[in-house]
Amino acid sequence: MILISTSNYEELSQKAAEEVISRINQNPSLNLGLATGSTPTGLYQKLIRDHKQNQTSYKEVNTFNLDEYIGISKKDRNSYHYFMCEHLFEHIDIPLDQTHIPDGTAKNLDEECMRYEQFIVEHGGIDLQILGIGQNGHIGFNEPGTPFDSRTHIIDLAESTRKANSRFFDSLEDVPKQAITMGIASIMDSKEIFLLVSGASKAKALSRLINGEVNEQFPASILQKHENVTIFVDKEATALL
Ligand code: PGA
Repeated sequence: MILISTSNYEELSQKAAEEVISRINQNPSLNLGLATGSTPTGLYQKLIRDHKQNQTSYKEVNTFNLDEYIGISKKDRNSYHYFMCEHLFEHIDIPLDQTHIPDGTAKNLDEECMRYEQFIVEHGGIDLQILGIGQNGHIGFNEPGTPFDSRTHIIDLAESTRKANSRFFDSLEDVPKQAITMGIASIMDSKEIFLLVSGASKAKALSRLINGEVNEQFPASILQKHENVTIFVDKEATALL
C-alpha cells in the first residue's frame, strides 16, 4: 500500500483528482468504481472543475458504484443514484447510461445482486475503484464480519453506520436498514484502488488498517493483500500513526 500524505482535505482531494484524471488520460474508456459519502465529494468537485477547465472527457468512461440503499427510490434525495447525479454526473459529459449503480428497488433483490456482479465482469472488471472507509472499517457497505470472499450482496447496516449516515436524513428512523453492496471479493478484483481517508474521526480506522492484522472483523484490513492500493490521507487522519 502506498500512502500519500497531504496537509488537509483540499489537498487530499486535489491529489486524488490528479491521479484519477491521469488514469482517464491513459485510458479514456476507464471502468471507474465510485463511492458515496462525504469523503469523495471534494474529489468529485475537482474532477468537475478539471472537466470544465481542461475538457477531460468521460464520454467513454463507465462508472460502477459500490452500493445503494434498499427501499428508497432513485429519485429520493437520499438515494445514492441522486447523490451521484448531484455531485458528479450532471456536471460532466458522461452519458447516464454508462453510469451503473445497484438497484435497491428491484423486485428480486437477490437477482439484482447477481446481475450487478455479472454486469461488472462482462464489462471487463473495474480498472480503478475509489473507496472511503467507515469508522468500523467497512468498505462499501461491507460491515465487520462480512466474509472476505463475498460478492455483491444484501447487507444489514450496522447501527453505527445508520447513526453516522442519519446526518443526511430527517431522523434515524428514516435511514434504511439494508443496502446492496459490492462484496469484498468484488472490490478486491479491481485492478487499482484509491482509498481516501480524511479527518480525526478516521484516525483510529487508518491506524488499524495499516498496523492491524487482516481479519473479517475489520473489512478494510483485506486491502493489505491487494497489490495496487494508494491511500490518500490528510494530517488529521494520521494522528495515530
Ligand atoms: P464518509 O463515509 O466518507 O461519509 O465518512 C465513508 C464510509 O462510510 O465508507
